[in-house]
Amino acid sequence: MKTLGAFLLALHGAAAFPAVMEAMSNNGKRQSNTCSVSAKCNQKYSVTDAQIGYNPKAPTPAQVASAGRNHCGNLTPCTLFDAAEQYVSTSGAHAFQSPKSTDLRGPCPGLNAAANHGYLARNGVQSLTQTITGLGQAYGMSVDLAGFLAAYAIAFDGDLVSMTWSIGGPQAKLGAVDSGQGISWSHNKYEGDTSISRCDAYINNGDAHSLSTTRFAYAYSEGAKDDRLDMDKFARAFAKNTYRSIGQNPYYFAPLFSTTLVSPAAYNFVIAMMSNHTADQPGGYLNEDMFKTFFSVTGHYPNYKWNPGQDRIPNNTYTGIDISNFSNGIYNAQNLFQGDNLACFMYQNIQQGLPDIITANPLVTAGATLLQKQFGIAFAGVTCPAVSKFNNNNLPPYPGRSYSPNPPANAPQNC
Ligand code: HEM
Ligand SMILES: *[C@@H]1O[C@H](CO)[C@@H](O)[C@H](O)[C@H]1NC(C)=O
Ligand SMILES: *[C@@H]1O[C@H](CO)[C@@H](O)[C@H](O)[C@H]1NC(C)=O
Ligand SMILES: *[C@@H]1O[C@H](CO)[C@@H](O)[C@H](O)[C@H]1NC(C)=O
Repeated sequence: MKTLGAFLLALHGAAAFPAVMEAMSNNGKRQSNTCSVSAKCNQKYSVTDAQIGYNPKAPTPAQVASAGRNHCGNLTPCTLFDAAEQYVSTSGAHAFQSPKSTDLRGPCPGLNAAANHGYLARNGVQSLTQTITGLGQAYGMSVDLAGFLAAYAIAFDGDLVSMTWSIGGPQAKLGAVDSGQGISWSHNKYEGDTSISRCDAYINNGDAHSLSTTRFAYAYSEGAKDDRLDMDKFARAFAKNTYRSIGQNPYYFAPLFSTTLVSPAAYNFVIAMMSNHTADQPGGYLNEDMFKTFFSVTGHYPNYKWNPGQDRIPNNTYTGIDISNFSNGIYNAQNLFQGDNLACFMYQNIQQGLPDIITANPLVTAGATLLQKQFGIAFAGVTCPAVSKFNNNNLPPYPGRSYSPNPPANAPQNC
């Protein structure tokens, strides 16, 4: 799960929960101060195993396969453990520091924690190189995956002049140029509905980065019985949250990148990158304490408190080594860079994630140029047989598609 190929395999899991896109006529934008969670988002919404088609006594073949995955996301055991290689420093240059009031933090606990420990720039504004180096050191994330995620962030939510992006809200404007909204305000471009602990943007007045303790408790509840979270339990948590989004959020919309790929991948990131590894359990384990530390939550199930911006890496954590080689799947790290695969993938996302722009928009041209520079692929003349499936003409009836809230002027930076 730390490689690009593994990331893209999240599409397989997501395919089990086809997007439900509901039509609504009201299409206004809403926004509020950040760092707060609405009553609607915190309202309990119970979803049973039966409602997501899961019977523990009679699992489907796909569910049996899901249960067989370890913390690396593989079906083959992760057997290696090398303490010196896998130790993650949380002292010295990597000692935890709370963000300053001007430091940017946002919806991603992995990035927030990496910045609070100096693996990423502590001010929250990242270059491509810093992202790749820092996430490799902190979590063992592969160069291709970190590079891909960061290039996407620069292209769609970042600053194309300085080639930087923000892990929270908008970074300070550099001259007259708009430096991007940051991933906190990237609804449908990067940030998507059905998150683990964050509310759907629409039911939280546009704020999709503040943590709901109700949602955090839903996530942990899957592992409360034995104080262990794993891929399979989180696959069920994702299915239940999808059910909730459909029921609670009239603007629920599942574009290919943000909701169909990033959102389920984030569930896998928790298990793959926040687990601790030991000589006895080289495959890793994740308990409530570690889960709370990464997400900056205190208290005990189900009574939690969120402390904005204090996400941290637990002391004495040993990260996993990703030794898998994904040769199956629609895209893998090798074939994504062959032919037009990456260009098609990005093109489909531009169509869905940036619905308000036309193809001549300079930002898209600049984004395409950046991707070409990063991945050596040009958009011009690509052959994408699958693209007709994602034709824009199919999308206008879904109002959630163009729901794109902006940050209020006085938004706090580090939450
Ligand atoms: C360049 C690298 C990365 C980028 C651009 C990125 C971006 C994002 C974004 C935009 C979200 C919000 C998605 C949503 O709507 O749910 C998110 C969520 C999340 N990310 Fe990251 N991320 C990166 C790396 C990581 C790493 C290394 C980890 C784990 C150590 C991680 C763990 C998570 C988790 C657990 C969530 C879900 C949070 C929640 O719903 O409460 N991410 N990330
Ligand atoms: C983690 O380790 C650091 C550095 O050794 C120390 O200052 C800090 O108090 C420890 N934190 C916790 C929560 O134990
Ligand atoms: C992680 O595992 C090591 C043994 O490999 C153990 O000493 C350490 O306390 C564990 N860390 C956490 C955060 O549980
Ligand atoms: C990964 O798989 C490819 C294709 O099957 C093979 O050529 C390559 O040697 C494998 N790499 C590793 C590290 O096993």
